[in-house]
Amino acid sequence: MPERTQPRVTVLGLGRMGGRIASAFLTAGYRTTVWNRTAAKADALVAQGALRASTAAEAVAAGPLVIAPLLDHTAVRQALGPAAAALRGRTVVNLANSTPEHARELAGWAAGHGADYLDGAMMALPETVATPEGFFLYGGSQRAFTTYRRELEVMAPAHYFGTDPGSAEIHDLALLGTGYAALTGFLHAAALLGPVGTAPEAFAPLAARWLRGMAEFLPELAREAGEASYTDGVSTVDLNRAGVDSLLQLSRASGIATDVHEPLKALLDRRSADGHGQDSFSSVFELLRARGRLRPGPPRWRGGWRRRGPGWLPWRTGC
Ligand SMILES: NC(=O)c1ccc[n+]([C@@H]2O[C@H](COP(=O)([O-])OP(=O)(O)OC[C@H]3O[C@@H](n4cnc5c(N)ncnc54)[C@H](OP(=O)(O)O)[C@@H]3O)[C@@H](O)[C@H]2O)c1
Repeated sequence: MPERTQPRVTVLGLGRMGGRIASAFLTAGYRTTVWNRTAAKADALVAQGALRASTAAEAVAAGPLVIAPLLDHTAVRQALGPAAAALRGRTVVNLANSTPEHARELAGWAAGHGADYLDGAMMALPETVATPEGFFLYGGSQRAFTTYRRELEVMAPAHYFGTDPGSAEIHDLALLGTGYAALTGFLHAAALLGPVGTAPEAFAPLAARWLRGMAEFLPELAREAGEASYTDGVSTVDLNRAGVDSLLQLSRASGIATDVHEPLKALLDRRSADGHGQDSFSSVFELLRARGRLRPGPPRWRGGWRRRGPGWLPWRTGC
C-alpha cells in the first residue's frame, strides 16, 4: 500500500501485550509508530517495519490513534504526561489494567487536552492477541469506538459497554470475580481429593467438563436474576444448602479449610431463614445486589469523571 494511504496507528508500551499488539498492526498493514520507555524493546518491531519514536510525544504526534498497553495507571500517566501538548485531536485507547475511578480520571484528563478517550481491558494472553480466543472490553467515547472499530478488531474481538469510561474495568473485574470463584473452588476440591489419592492433574479434566456444563446453566441463572423470578427453578436454596453443608462437613472431617464455601453457606442460610428456602439457588442474588434496582446500563456519560446519572448505582452499596 502506498505510504500516504496506509492507515496509521501508534503503540505506546512494548511489553508482553504491547509487543504483540504492535506486531498485529504491522501484519495487518498499518503504518505503526512505536515507543517504549526502554528503547531496545522496539528493535525487533522496527526490523519488522515499525517506525521508532524517540519520545512518547513524538509517537502521539505520529497518528490519530494512540494505543497504550502500558503496565498500569501510573505508567500511562508518566508516559502521556510529557506528551499532553500533542494529544489534541487524538484518540487514546488506554489498555492498562486499572480501576473504574482511574479510567474516569484519565478520560477527564484526556478531554482536558482535547483528546477522545476509550478505556479497554484485555481479556487475553500475549499469545491470544489477534486471535479469536482473546477479547477486549471497552468503555468511553462512542465516537472513538465507532470510528476505530476496525483497528480495535485487529487486536481482538471488541465489546463496547457504553460511554462510562469505567465500564470496561467494571466488566473486567466482574469476569475476574467469576473466574476466581471457580478456580478457588477447584483448589479446594484438589485439597479435598488429596487424602483419597486423586492428584489435581487427574481431577482437572473432570472439573473442566463439569464447569463446561455449569457454563450452560448461566443463561437460566441470568434470566432468573434479571427478572427477579425465582419460583420455577429446580435447584432450590434448601437443596443447595444441604449440598454445601455436606461439603463443609466433609472438609472439616478431612482437616481441609472451609473458608471457600462458608460464605456461600451463610448466604443460603439467610435466604432460608427469610422464608425463601424453596426459591431457586439464583435467589441468593437478592442478598448480593445493590439496594434499589439497577438500570440495565449506565446513563450517557457527559464528561467530568465524577458525574453519575441520577438513580444509576454503578457500585454495590451493600445489602
Ligand atoms: N501479560 C498478560 O498476560 C496480560 C493479560 C491481560 C492484560 N494484561 C495487562 O496488560 C498490561 C500490560 O501488561 P504486560 O504483560 O504487557 O506488561 P509488561 O510486559 O510488564 O510491560 C509493561 C509495559 O509498561 C511499560 N512501563 C511500565 N512502567 C512504565 C512507566 N512508569 N513509564 C513508561 N512505561 C512504563 C514497560 O516499559 P519498559 O519496557 O521500559 O519496562 C512496558 O512497555 C497490564 O496492565 C496487564 O495487567 C496483561
